[in-house]
Amino acid sequence: MSRLVCVSNRISLPRKSAAPGGLAVGVLNALKRTGGLWFGWGGETVDEVPGDPDLHIRDGVTYATVDLRRREFELYYNGYANQVLWPLFHYFLRSMRYNVDERDAYEDVNRMFAQKLLPLLEPRDLIWVHDYHLIPLGRYLREAGVRRPLGFFLHIPFPNIEMLRVLPPYAELLRDLTCYDVVGFQTENDLQAFYSGIEHLFGAEAIRGDGRIRVGDRVIRAEVFPIGVDVATTQNEAMEAMSSDVVRRMYDSLMGRQLMVGVDRLDYSKGLVERFSAYQHFLETYPENVGRITYLQIAPLSRSDVKAYVEIRQALEQASGRTNGRFANTDWTPIRYLNRNFPHATLMGLLRSAHVGIVTPLRDGMNLVAKEFVAAQNPDDPGVLILSNLAGAARELSSALLVNPYDTRAVGNTLQAALSMALPERRERHAAMLQTLKRNDIAAWSRRFVEALEKVDAAESRVRAIGNSV
Ligand code: F6P
Repeated sequence: MSRLVCVSNRISLPRKSAAPGGLAVGVLNALKRTGGLWFGWGGETVDEVPGDPDLHIRDGVTYATVDLRRREFELYYNGYANQVLWPLFHYFLRSMRYNVDERDAYEDVNRMFAQKLLPLLEPRDLIWVHDYHLIPLGRYLREAGVRRPLGFFLHIPFPNIEMLRVLPPYAELLRDLTCYDVVGFQTENDLQAFYSGIEHLFGAEAIRGDGRIRVGDRVIRAEVFPIGVDVATTQNEAMEAMSSDVVRRMYDSLMGRQLMVGVDRLDYSKGLVERFSAYQHFLETYPENVGRITYLQIAPLSRSDVKAYVEIRQALEQASGRTNGRFANTDWTPIRYLNRNFPHATLMGLLRSAHVGIVTPLRDGMNLVAKEFVAAQNPDDPGVLILSNLAGAARELSSALLVNPYDTRAVGNTLQAALSMALPERRERHAAMLQTLKRNDIAAWSRRFVEALEKVDAAESRVRAIGNSV
């Protein structure tokens, strides 16, 4: 029986507050189902050379955490991961700045992860590496002699070669991805963008008719695995949270007004500045809504040491202040803008309370808030989802009101349409989306990826068996 080993930059330790984002939810779901090992950074920075990983075992899952040195964290996480790869992969060249020291630190941390992981590996492990922080890890593991199936899943978008080749070591990045046996993406767009890079580097003949990639004597399986949510848990959390103190007080404070909710990590890719302008446009164009709608935007701070994040925070403070200053009254504030996080269940209760969920990233790998909004609704009286057509989730949630997030006027007009949508249409759109969510839920995502790794394992065992019999 094989064991699943997941590796990610940040891990979610039991009893600590959950790490943000879909990655943590997805990995935890996979490991709780199968048991196994989760290896990654524990979230602490240290001054001395980090020692052996700390191990915690809980409910069949072993959590192995390593520390990062302050300087490594600065160069590898704040630097290369979040000022080079993140903006580049989200098509934000303006926020990208390349620096060789940061690239070196990125390599060093990946090498260190491989070294610390190796002694924990067992002969029958299936190894699943997550996200852009750890692209070279597969190469370091291979160099250290690991022959077990290696998978990589990218949680964020993958850029087309014309964007990717802005990165000086783009060829190394593509080659590193070919060290894995299975490479997974959120959407077909990302897969096609990966093929564009493979074709550029290895020629069109590297992509076989069945979509697999041949590089030298290796065959790599590249596929789409859209990440989903745990529909039943989200529904239950949302229903229960409706009677929680936070959600009840928020609901009472609306005094019968309609509610629009957004929940996003504070990140320039989430399109919050554009969303605030769209809302302002909406209040100007449809003044009958002034005093009748409340927009609750929850935006927990993230990556606060990175300049682009400091700038976007200031821009949002100005934008929300501007709208509130202009439209607020003594008993009403148009935007409630909060830079804090809430427990997941509370967030689900807030989403369920909303007449409109607004998810308008300028680019997003998937966006699980969009999916959670749908899962959290009361099917008898569901709210309406306004969703960016530049989020990966738009491919599956085609019954949402899809918008171009840059077109702030159109988003404002869509908000007006959402607020006046009749119940039968709301129900119909919601039912279609819920059905998709159930089919492609979080368990299906991890099961499909693990099955792909198991197939690699089975194929390699067959090759070994034939080799031994001749
Ligand atoms: O999904 C993208 C991602 O960067 C994940 O890798 C990460 O877990 C999440 O967003 C939150 O980001 P960070 O760890 O930088 O706070």
